Amino acid sequence: MALLDVQHLGMRFGGLQANVNISFQVERGEMVGLIGPNGAGKSTLFNCLAGVHNPTEGRILFKDRDVTGSRPYAMARMGLARTFQVYVATGDLNVIENIMVGGFMRSRSPRVSREKAESLADKMNLAGLAQERVANLPVAAQKRVTMATALATAPDLLLLDEVAAGLNPSEIEQMIDLIRWVHHDLKVTILLIEHVMELVMKLSHRVLVLDSGRLIAEGEPAAVSRSPEVIKAYLGERYAAEQRGDIGPRTSV
Ligand SMILES: Nc1ncnc2c1ncn2[C@@H]1O[C@H](COP(=O)(O)OP(=O)(O)OP(=O)(O)O)[C@@H](O)[C@H]1O
Ligand SMILES: [Mg+2]
Repeated sequence: MALLDVQHLGMRFGGLQANVNISFQVERGEMVGLIGPNGAGKSTLFNCLAGVHNPTEGRILFKDRDVTGSRPYAMARMGLARTFQVYVATGDLNVIENIMVGGFMRSRSPRVSREKAESLADKMNLAGLAQERVANLPVAAQKRVTMATALATAPDLLLLDEVAAGLNPSEIEQMIDLIRWVHHDLKVTILLIEHVMELVMKLSHRVLVLDSGRLIAEGEPAAVSRSPEVIKAYLGERYAAEQRGDIGPRTSV
């Protein structure tokens, strides 16, 4: 059985249909990319999966249970964690306290949560920033904090919403290594939204493409990036030419 099974999911905000009849599955152990133009409905889909929105159509099965309409806390308890595209630092918390918020999902003990937070901070290159207020950190460190907080809930499935946005090329390389570590060493299944194509193409086993709320393509990264429909909707002729080696690369589209 698939870890996540999305069936005919639709999400309407008043007159706006942000997700339309979306069906796909994610198997345990996979790393799946979710791409598409601004406003395509990617974050809305994550919000439906994470229980922020109750989808107006369709069903979500997670670990073979119908979780459609479950609240975020219930989804996190079941093992589905997410990061937010726009990171909102929680009040005055420092890095360790912020990560501990995730840990409290699994243990009420401050000591246990703190130890877990310190261990994650250590592995995620945040140890030197442990006492800093999250709001004061550079964007790359904030992205690692939001990932660490999600990981502290011990998820089976992690949804990453644009964790490479705003990072420079060397920070993107570090993020790629970090995501590989989460996937391989922590054995977390990953679904990631990203506009930084280098990251999507290097990491994803499979890519889903959304356009105007609909799933328009799904497949291996190389095949998807050659699809005329995907090039037209999102990647653009420039990206296709880069892949053919006609012109030099850039890191994002
Ligand atoms: N809570 C909401 N209420 C009303 N409309 C919303 C809400 N959230 C998203 N939308 C609308 O739904 C559509 C899809 O937005 P969404 O944020 O899912 O796109 P996205 O693919 O994540 O885009 P981006 O790449 O820019 O982050 C947009 O038209 C957006 O304005
Ligand atoms: Mg978004």
